Amino acid sequence: MEIVVSGIRSTGQLHLGNYFGAVKNFVRMQHEHPCYFFIANYHALTTHPEPASLRASVRQVLVEYLACGIDPEKAVVYLQSDLPEIPELYMLLNMHAYVGELEKVPTFKDKVRKQPNNVNAGLLTYPVLMTADVIIHKASRVPVGKDQEQHLEMARNFVNRFNHFYGVDYFPEPYPYNFGQELVKVPGLDGSGKMGKSEGNAIYLSDDPAVIRKKIMRAVTDTGPTEPNSPVSEPVNNLFTLLSLVAAPERVDFYKAAYADCSIRYGDLKKELAEEVLSFVAPIQERIREISADDAYIRKVLTEGAEKARLSSSKTLREVREIMGF
Ligand code: TYM
Repeated sequence: MEIVVSGIRSTGQLHLGNYFGAVKNFVRMQHEHPCYFFIANYHALTTHPEPASLRASVRQVLVEYLACGIDPEKAVVYLQSDLPEIPELYMLLNMHAYVGELEKVPTFKDKVRKQPNNVNAGLLTYPVLMTADVIIHKASRVPVGKDQEQHLEMARNFVNRFNHFYGVDYFPEPYPYNFGQELVKVPGLDGSGKMGKSEGNAIYLSDDPAVIRKKIMRAVTDTGPTEPNSPVSEPVNNLFTLLSLVAAPERVDFYKAAYADCSIRYGDLKKELAEEVLSFVAPIQERIREISADDAYIRKVLTEGAEKARLSSSKTLREVREIMGF
């Protein structure tokens, strides 16, 4: 039986990219595999959050996981920092991770560009910690969005290096997973690139309806098609992609046809997209409110999750130490 692990950084609330790239598949996979879903609060430290905001984000991500349908009776749900075996495995794996290869990782180079004053060692070894998260449960399937593909390629390198160096067939290779389909990349509202927390182009599951309407009405488009059947520009295509996530396919076809014959009205497209997003998030928001009010339940989920996760993580770490000669 293939084991599934995935996580989300606790840096605030979940956005539609997190949902359609990852959480939606968590919910589906929990019925089919042994699943471990965690909140990556160590990874969140690379941007130096205030302690109070880190704590609040962890709680919010947990509440939103549960509100989206992750069932702690089916999947093991826990906090990364509740498993001391993860940082220990991370330290051990670091001895086999080379600075040169880590410096070449595109997400690292991107951070160096974006936050030149905070190029900390945690950023450099981010893929090593991610590998530890996954292989601590010997997982082979990792439901993630397209942006995490390279991190998992690194994870396979580290796993193969470990197995080869110690002459064992211990860790399975972890692969990104999306039910046999292309990994998802949810676009942002700013006309280019992916939806992201740090890009300021995201729609959050817990955004107020008025905020969602405003963000979508302000989304970048173009000046409109000038001749029939001209290629769809990236910003408009992004709106089609977002619509296809929340609305019936006929509605996307309708706007694509309107674009092709130059009759499209972006205002109508945006209004429809906003209403579809609102109906999509409404039931989730309702559950966020319910679950968020129940402190005892939240604590219970984390306590039981940590207990269950540690059964597996402590076994792996014991075996790894043995293999390495401790
Ligand atoms: P994070 O917190 O940036 O994102 C969490 C998950 O959401 C997906 N995602 C997207 N998918 C499609 N389109 C988007 N616009 C989009 N934005 C985010 C991400 O692909 C991811 O699946 N390093 C990870 C967290 C992590 C992890 C792990 C994941 C730590 N350890 C081990 C898997 C396994 C991260 O920062 O994701």
